[in-house]
Amino acid sequence: MSQMTMPRTWSRETFIAAVGAAVWAPSIHNTQPWRFRYTDEGIDVLLDPARQVPVCDPHCRASRVSCGAATFNLRLALADTGEPAQYRLGRGDTLVHLSPAGRRPPLPVERRLYRQIRRRHTNRGPFSEGAVDRSLVVQLTDAARQESGWLDFVVGEPALEAVASLIRSADAELSADPAYVAEMRAWTTEADHRVEGVDRDAAGAAPHPAELLARRDFGGAEHGTTRDLSREPVVAVFGVLGDGPADAVQAGMALQRVLLTAADLGLSTAMYSQPIEVPTIRERLRLTLGRLHDPQLVLRFGYAPTTCYTNRRPLEDVIEP
Ligand SMILES: Cc1cc2nc3c(=O)[nH]c(=O)nc-3n(C[C@H](O)[C@H](O)[C@H](O)COP(=O)(O)O)c2cc1C
Repeated sequence: MSQMTMPRTWSRETFIAAVGAAVWAPSIHNTQPWRFRYTDEGIDVLLDPARQVPVCDPHCRASRVSCGAATFNLRLALADTGEPAQYRLGRGDTLVHLSPAGRRPPLPVERRLYRQIRRRHTNRGPFSEGAVDRSLVVQLTDAARQESGWLDFVVGEPALEAVASLIRSADAELSADPAYVAEMRAWTTEADHRVEGVDRDAAGAAPHPAELLARRDFGGAEHGTTRDLSREPVVAVFGVLGDGPADAVQAGMALQRVLLTAADLGLSTAMYSQPIEVPTIRERLRLTLGRLHDPQLVLRFGYAPTTCYTNRRPLEDVIEP
């Protein structure tokens, strides 16, 4: 009689439900540059070469960060079922291999972060004035560290002005490139119910020159009352211990842990990647921070009303046949 073999991987239903959580990760211009493969050993996360933004992300770094964020969601969703994953970073376009790590109940922190996956969103609206309590800052820093990342809060007016000025310079340089603007416009949409890109509502109002942190201009309408004139935004720069392709995936996992922790603490977040996209400015940012490793993103934390959510593609579009 043939011996019954235990399945080595999750059920297909669990896989599909976990992908359903993964896709709510943030991604550069909401390109959703990921695909997911169900295998005999587990789940593979793949970079989708057809969904790249070559002008702003010529080396697919931001796309890998996005896929890393989706991987963190997958890990949380699997942990939430009591069948958590272990992961191994892959090669080429196969970025991550996940396999079952044995059964155990989800940890309280996994449950809390899992519940934030659909609540988290990028907030391009105005934040209210006011500091973020130091104990929350410690929790955010710790969240990055848990996934081998680092998060440096920018403390004091001169340091804040230095970082803001690098964001401004990078934004000005990028915006002067017609190819960059055309690519961003292609991923910005006025249409309702589009399943990709940044739609008009999520884009926020047009950036105003008086705002300290230069937001990316996704073509939002000019709107005086939504200007954010805060001179003391809570800003942090985030990175990992390297800048190779696998480091970018690791950075995405750490980023998503930070963003979900922020959501769990009631904080809104905004992202500024312009200074990362201009190599000379990225290097100046690294030196400003006195860091050995390259920064991966500038983040803003604070209190703000919920803004519009972006949409996602149907799951059949992201699952390998
Ligand atoms: C690597 C990376 C870089 C990003 N850079 C910016 C940015 O410079 N400006 C911005 O407004 N949003 C930025 N975003 C946020 C994305 O536009 C956002 O995640 C996407 O539109 C999906 O929306 P959601 O985060 O609300 O789910 C970035 C996201 C990632 C993952």
